[in-house]
Amino acid sequence: MRNEEGLRIQKIESGTVIDHITAGYALDVLRILNIDGKEGHVVSVAMNVRSDKMGRKDIVKIENRELRQEEVDKIALLAPRATINIIRDYGVAQKTRVKLPEVIRDIIRCDNPVCISNAKEPAEPRFYVVSTGPLLLRCHYCGREMGREEILKQFSS
Ligand code: CTP
Ligand code: ZN
Repeated sequence: MRNEEGLRIQKIESGTVIDHITAGYALDVLRILNIDGKEGHVVSVAMNVRSDKMGRKDIVKIENRELRQEEVDKIALLAPRATINIIRDYGVAQKTRVKLPEVIRDIIRCDNPVCISNAKEPAEPRFYVVSTGPLLLRCHYCGREMGREEILKQFSS
């Protein structure tokens, strides 16, 4: 059956559709991608629409912009069930499910100022996923635990 809720916003010719975002998290996803509208892309957001699989979900459509793998990995932090659809010439050219790696490198910094990952010659940031709902990461070096709010703070624009 067609996903009518996905059509609540019209189909796009090219770009990226981020589908199956945890309901209520669309704006956080845009924030973590550093998309604030100033780069000029047409961006459409649908929040709390009905979904067979999820009950409710959010959808983000970014026109004429394909996401890099590193950006897709960031989305997994907030919306572990999201699917990334690359749209070309009105068709779904590629569909991938985001995947949160067990170890997260480089995407975020440790909040602990004296952590070795924040030293003058820093070790590469490395976190373990303690839990995904609610999101909790633990620093490999100093054990500092960071939740969704601390993580999102690093992406404020
Ligand atoms: N979409 C879009 N513009 C297009 C093609 C698709 O905005 N030109 C959107 C659809 O509305 C949907 C998402 O991209 O939200 C994925 O499209 P599609 O794979 O056709 O939908 P489903 O089969 O429902 O996806 P899934 O199986 O992942 O639930
Ligand atoms: Zn640390």
